[in-house]
Parts: sequence; structure tokens; C-alpha cells
Amino acid sequence: MSIESLKTLLRPELAQLSPYRVPPAPPEVRLDANESPFPLPPEARARIAAALHTAELHRYPDGRATRLRGALARGLGGSPAEYVLGAGSDELIASLATAMSRPRAGAERPVVLIPEPTFVMYRMTSQVHGWEPVGVPLDDAWDLDADAMAEAMERTQPNLVYYAIPNNPTGNCFARDTVESLVDAFPDTLHVIDEAYGAYSGQSFATFAEERPHCALMGTLSKVGFAGIRVGWVRIHEELSAELEKVRQPFNLNTASQIIATLALTDLAPLLEEQVTSIVAEREGLAGELSRHEALHCYPSAANFLLVRYAGDIPTLCQTLLEHEIAVRQFSSGDSRLRSCIRITIGTPEENARLVQALRDILG
Ligand SMILES: Cc1ncc(COP(=O)(O)O)c(C=O)c1O
Repeated sequence: MSIESLKTLLRPELAQLSPYRVPPAPPEVRLDANESPFPLPPEARARIAAALHTAELHRYPDGRATRLRGALARGLGGSPAEYVLGAGSDELIASLATAMSRPRAGAERPVVLIPEPTFVMYRMTSQVHGWEPVGVPLDDAWDLDADAMAEAMERTQPNLVYYAIPNNPTGNCFARDTVESLVDAFPDTLHVIDEAYGAYSGQSFATFAEERPHCALMGTLSKVGFAGIRVGWVRIHEELSAELEKVRQPFNLNTASQIIATLALTDLAPLLEEQVTSIVAEREGLAGELSRHEALHCYPSAANFLLVRYAGDIPTLCQTLLEHEIAVRQFSSGDSRLRSCIRITIGTPEENARLVQALRDILG
């Protein structure tokens, strides 16, 4: 068989898609991926090394991730059985697309409703799985357009709707009463509230979601210091978690990730909280500094990054920052409102100072 004929076997949706962008050679200051900028201090590394020292790496990992799910339930509430784990929440977005994909009666494809702009993987993953993504534009303040959302819910009867709160890349939290009314008005849809940046916002929908079986919460360790171990979760009603468990690869979370994640949620939790507090303080400081430039407009943020509108040429600005060894995120596709914006992840105090100085050099 030739490669050309093999390519005819690929899912047709793939032709429209490009792979998720990961920059090839990162510069010294990486403010483009919403990671925590802080490496772990030596004591925390020693704690992890000691725990890994006794790990039985010749065995398969614990396929039920018993200790980790216990730590999640103790730390975030609910029972261990409500937590389905993934190699990052990315994997859970894919698991939901696999498991929740029966089209509504009379529809050809299952629908996912996505307030946009938001995290691109909701759309991309649903397309790869043959879903129909329906985007509903956020309003000018990047908040949910309550009427447009309700109208789209009525019209498209989605299987799933995603709300990233705080939202990426806009940084804001959607109005709580709008989210709550949508969840309550449409109980036949699974409403997934993605709290990937929840640690930076000081708010959560946990208590609200607990009482509503059609509301799930997603979380991750990626934004609070552990992007490298790829651990995310969805907390969902036990009857649905049991179904998601059927599509999860049995050993999707390796032993090292399970051990480190369990420590992150227990012994290392106070350290992570300190880091979050300092990132939040840096965020406010950096927003103040950026606002001194007339050409920049900083949107309010409850996350570990700032969305900044720039009244100039974005590719030139990003290229010049790269020449200063600083990477920020630009948006060449998707919502046209983002074309005039960059997203800046909050760095260490030194990295932020470097960015502020570079912008002074560039913008005057
Ligand atoms: C809103 C949101 N959810 C989920 C993720 C993915 O997180 P993970 O690293 O756990 O796959 C991201 C990553 O940027 C994100 O912005």
C-alpha cells in the first residue's frame, strides 16, 4: 500500500487541523505557556527524590491511582470514586469526547458548546473525535453572553459545554450567576467547569457542582508548579466517572507522576500555596507596570497570566522580545479580537523585571 492510499484512511477532520503549537527552542525567559516560573526548592526536590527512591519502577503503576485519588478527595472534597485522572487535563478532554459522544436523536454528530475565545483544545479535541463544535463569542468584557449561550443551548442541544474559569487566554472569571443559571436551566447537558487556573482566582465552583450531577469540575497540577508530570483530573458524578473509567487507558498515569502528584497535594501543598500567593502579587505589580505604556492595555486577570492588547504590530513586538530572550504568546488564528493581543505568563520577580525593562527599551 502506498502512503497516498494510507492517507485516504485518515479521519477527514484531520485535514483541517494543525498540531498544537509548542515553540522549538525556548529562550531564557519563558512567559508563553502559563506554567509556574518557580523551580522547586532543594528541600522539596529531596522529598520527591526520597519518595521516588523506593518506587517499584519494575512494576506497572497502580492503575487505580489509589493514593493520589485519596489525596485529591481529602484536599478538594468528594469521594475518590468521583475523580478520573488523566495525563494532564488534556487527556480528560479527549476521554469526555470519546465517552460522551452519542449524538442526540435526529442529529448526525454530538455537539459541544464552547464560549470563545478559550482554551483551544476543547475545539480541537472535539473535532478530532468527529464532534460538531459550536462557538459562542464572549462579550466585549470577555464574559459569557448569557442570552447567546442560552439560545445556542436551546438550538444545538449540546452533549457538553466547557467553561474555563478563569478563562484562558482572557484571564477573567465568567460571571458566576450566568454560569449557575445556565447549569440549572439545562440539566440534560454535561457542564464542565475547568478550574485549571482556579488556584490564582481564589474561587471555585466545587460546592455548587457537588449538588448537581450534570456539572463536572476539571483541575490540573500543570499551572501550579508541576507541568512536567502531566497530572489532571475531572471530578464527576460517580455514575459518569465509572463510564469514563472504561475509556481510560489502564496505566495512563505513570508511577513517578502518581508519587509526585500525591506529594504536591499533601506535604508540598503549603509551598505551592506560597508560590501562588507570590505569583498573584507579581501579577498585580506587572499589570501596573504595563499600564504605564500608552500602547498597552492590560485586561483584568484572575489567573497566572495577563492578556494585553497592543496598539502596534504584534509579530514585530514578539520578535523583538525574542531578541531579548523573552517568549510571550501571540495568536495568529482563532478569534480575531486576539490578533491585537499578547498573553504574558507571570514569571519570577527577576523575569518580570526583565520584561518590564525590555518593554521600556522597545516602546520607550
Ligand atoms: C483552561 C485550560 N485547561 C486545561 C489546560 C491543560 O492542562 P494540562 O496541562 O493539565 O493538560 C490548559 C492548558 O493551557 C488550560 O489553559
